[in-house]
Formats: sequence, C-alpha cells, structure tokens
Amino acid sequence: ASAPTTVTITGGGGQIGYALMFRIAAGDMLGPDRPVRLRLLEIPQGMKAAEGAALELQDCAFPQLVDVDVTDDPLTAFSGARIAMLVGARPRSAGMERADLLAANAGIFGPQGRAIGAVADDDVRVVVVGNPANTNALIAAASAAPHVPAERFTALTRLDHNRAVGRLAEALQVPAGDIEDVTIWGNHSASQFPDVAHAYVREGVMERMPVLEALAERLGGTEQARAWLDDTFIPRVARRGAEIIEVRGSSSVASAANAAIDHVRDEQLGTPGRTWTSAAVVSRGEYGVPEGLVSSFPVRSRGVRSEGEGYEIVEGLDLDDRARRLLAASVDELVAERDAVRALGVLG
Ligand code: NAI
Repeated sequence: ASAPTTVTITGGGGQIGYALMFRIAAGDMLGPDRPVRLRLLEIPQGMKAAEGAALELQDCAFPQLVDVDVTDDPLTAFSGARIAMLVGARPRSAGMERADLLAANAGIFGPQGRAIGAVADDDVRVVVVGNPANTNALIAAASAAPHVPAERFTALTRLDHNRAVGRLAEALQVPAGDIEDVTIWGNHSASQFPDVAHAYVREGVMERMPVLEALAERLGGTEQARAWLDDTFIPRVARRGAEIIEVRGSSSVASAANAAIDHVRDEQLGTPGRTWTSAAVVSRGEYGVPEGLVSSFPVRSRGVRSEGEGYEIVEGLDLDDRARRLLAASVDELVAERDAVRALGVLG
C-alpha cells in the first residue's frame, strides 16, 4: 500500500464535517486503495463534538483509515496535509453586516492560510467550503503566499453544479448521469450564473442532444425553454440552499459534503473524458474575470500526480450577451467582496 495521505478537515465538530469524514474514511474520495490520515481542526467549543466523531470513526474499523487527530492548533492540524478542506467558518448572525462577516472570516482564513503555507505538504490542495467561500479562499491563498501557489486554493461550487444537473435531470426525465457540461459561473451566492448553453443530454453511447433542444422538445419550443431557464431554473438553483432550509428545517449538509468529496475526487483522480465540472479557481483573466479573483468556471483535471496539476479552466467557450451580463453581475459581487477584505489589510 502507498504512504497515507493526510486530509485535514476544519470544522470537524460541525455538521458538514460529520457528514464528510466517514465517507472519506470509507474511501469514497480517494479510492479504496489509498490509506488516509484524518486531522480535524476545531475551536475549543467544538473540540468535544470532533472528539466524539473521532471515537465513532474508530468504531467503524475502516481498513484504510490509519489515524485520526483532533486539535485546536492550526499548525498541528495542517502539518503534512496534502488535502485541506476548510469547512469551519463564522456564520452570519442576525443583524450582522457583510463587512463584519468578511472581517470575522478573515480572522479565520488568514491564520489558516498562514499555517498551510508554513507546515502543509509541498503539493497541498485546498478547497474552501465555509462561506463566503470564494472570498475566504482568496484570503487563505494570499496568506499562504509565497509558500503555496495561489492555484492550489479552490472554493466549492460543485454543490451548485450538482443542483443544476439535478434540476435538468428532473425537467428532462433522464438520469442525472446523462447530463454533461453544465457550468456554474461566478460567486457561490445568489448571484451565481448556472449556464446550460454548452450542456448536453447523452442518449445512448455516442449520441448527444443539446440541453436547450431537449428542453424545447419537452416544453413546446425554444422560447418556452429559454423562459423556463430564466424564470425557473436559474433562481431555483441559486436559491436551493434556502429551499432546503425551508423544507428540511436545517441547512444542506449531506449534499454539501457529497459535493466537497466530488470536488476533491475529480481534482485528485481526474475528470473523465472531455466533459467538465464546475469549481471556483483563481482567474488568470479567463472570460474577462479580473485576474486573481476566485470565481467559478468550467474546469477539467487530469488528476494530481505531480506538482502544478489540478483543475484547469476550460477555455474557448462562446458566451452570448446574456451570458456575459449574468457572469459580469456575479463577478461585480466578487470584486466588491475582494475590495472589502482588501480594505481590512488582509490581502497583503
Ligand atoms: P456548523 O456550524 O455545523 O459547523 C461549523 C464548525 O466549524 C463548528 O463546529 C465550529 O466550531 C467550527 N469552526 C468555527 N470556526 C473555526 C475555526 N476557526 N477553525 C476550525 N473550526 C472552526 O456548519 P456546517 O453546516 O458544517 O457548515 C459549515 C460551512 O459550510 C458554513 O460556512 C456554511 O455556510 C458552508 N456551506 C457551504 C456550502 C458550499 O456549497 N460552498 C454548502 C453548505 C454549507
């Protein structure tokens, strides 16, 4: 067997942490052959919950789980980490302004970024789940520089991607696995742009039909399909988190953990064929997104086997005026968040 891979989860005493760790230990993220060492980081108030979860992990007797550490010290938690999943964050409390929320999270993701820069594995990959995820990733990346290249930091928009695929599968009455090349653009927030302009439905082994055509067939015309996308699909995907809270009485947990596992698995092991998925990654100016912002794009990975690989943005897609407008609106929000944290002095 290979040497164990160290996976660090922050917020290990929280809900998503609890839904993540058992699946990772069972091999759902890195495959059944890769031994894993889990490190759970918590704040003092969360330590007992994380310690309890660690006891349960022992009780699963997972063959590939080598060890579990629980700590409230970032330098211990990120020591030797190859994969860091930053889940713990400061939630918005009643009456809290956005600037205060960003400042509170800068106080978490700044020190964690510095700790990753100091002690993580040379080839560490980081995914930020805790909200506001894109901007928290920006802060962590800036704080880990120059020790870790900014490209190693990503934020989770895979839940939005999977939600979009799920809505299309439902509308077209096809299995979710038959929907390909959906894209989430922009911020993981209500301003995101779920885009199906390049998406296909697989029909049999070789045939693919554009999603727009399939929707037009089902809804009685292209105009009806476009209206459904603008009036139903986009707002439903963007507001799905609120819908889950309304129906379930609690936020998305298992689906968020599942998306984080999909995100890391696809980056580490590679996306299949020519299809793509969505992740928030550092822009180098692609599609007019200002350089340095962490924005969601269509991405592929050839897997992480050596330094420098991981998610790559799918380039060369045509965006029409409507798509450019919707992307620009979400990017404006990312710029405003970046400027607010820059004013705090946390971006160096
Ligand atoms: P939770 O409140 O159950 O757990 C968060 C845990 O993080 C708590 O145990 C808390 O003690 C811990 N924590 C807080 N500050 C920490 C720090 N500095 N270091 C280590 N641990 C710390 O929340 P839940 O449901 O697990 O959600 C976690 C985050 O994920 C939230 O910010 C939520 O908004 C976000 N989220 C993001 C999604 C995405 O698609 N990107 C989807 C769903 C949730």
